[in-house]
Amino acid sequence: MIFRQLFDQVSGTYSYLLASRSGGEALIIDPVLEKVDRYLQLVHELDLKLVKALDTHLHADHITGLGALRDRTHCITVMGEQTKADVVSMRLGDGDKLTIEGVALDVIYTPGHTDDSYSFVMPDRVFTGDTLLIRGTGRTDFQNGDPRAEYHSIFGRLLKLPDATLVYPAHDYKGDTVSTIGEEKAFNPRLQVKSVEEYVDLMNNLKLANPKMMDVAVPANMKVGLAQEEIARRGWAVTAQDAQRLVGQPDVAFIDLRERSERERHGVIPGSLHVPYSSLQENIRGGGILYELAKSTSKRLLFYCAFGERSAMAVQAAQEAGLTAACHIDGGLDAWKKASGLLAH
Ligand SMILES: [Fe+2]
Repeated sequence: MIFRQLFDQVSGTYSYLLASRSGGEALIIDPVLEKVDRYLQLVHELDLKLVKALDTHLHADHITGLGALRDRTHCITVMGEQTKADVVSMRLGDGDKLTIEGVALDVIYTPGHTDDSYSFVMPDRVFTGDTLLIRGTGRTDFQNGDPRAEYHSIFGRLLKLPDATLVYPAHDYKGDTVSTIGEEKAFNPRLQVKSVEEYVDLMNNLKLANPKMMDVAVPANMKVGLAQEEIARRGWAVTAQDAQRLVGQPDVAFIDLRERSERERHGVIPGSLHVPYSSLQENIRGGGILYELAKSTSKRLLFYCAFGERSAMAVQAAQEAGLTAACHIDGGLDAWKKASGLLAH
């Protein structure tokens, strides 16, 4: 496995780059905007293809690199389903798996620091975001933080992992880089409590100043979505209402860009073809299924995904590949559901 721990000194943030092999797909966890050039240089040097960028939660102390990485690599942006960020390509829930080629992370919902905090588990390690830090825990005094929820996330979920599990947090301010579950159980001062009440008391009396960047970072991090208006302005979008009238029309092919797990969980538009976003490029170039479908049948390709972000990128790519009738459903399946569109399971 390729694994890199990257550090932003200004905010004390750790970001992680993961891949299973040189030449393969990569995932980045908690990227910082100012470091995006550095990440992309490393991705290039290691001969990787960045396909997903994940935030463990909505950060208050730095601006996320999610939007910039998406704009520059067309990768999929990922957060938990509770996030207040306007548009991320893919939202995960407890029990889901976050996958790239050769790497699978178990998704566990660990609220408390924020109500959209998640941890990501691999057989030998866990990425804890700000829920569990090295000899510390994430503050719970803003962003719908809740010390009681954090106690249950830590004691009920994270500390149930094997003692040898490596702990990789989103921050450290003292210079520590990695710990283990066993070590934190034994030596983390915040975890030496006898009850949930004692933990709540401890967390409610920390009296911390707000992060310097909070007033800038939180609003910025809530607006990371790709500007779908530009796609619509070019005439490449249809509304969810209009798309409903196109179901079953012989001259339109609905293309679902989501992953199998999303299709199983949220349902599909009846009659749609499944072409995951990760395999889009090979399908829209000459010889690819979508290219041939569009050229030989003059069908209009109508892309959709969860929130319209992957499909907006797919339309741009298809247009560049010469498929000039390609369009997408503005707002994705989320808008489709709000418009009471029919779904098959
Ligand atoms: Fe945080």
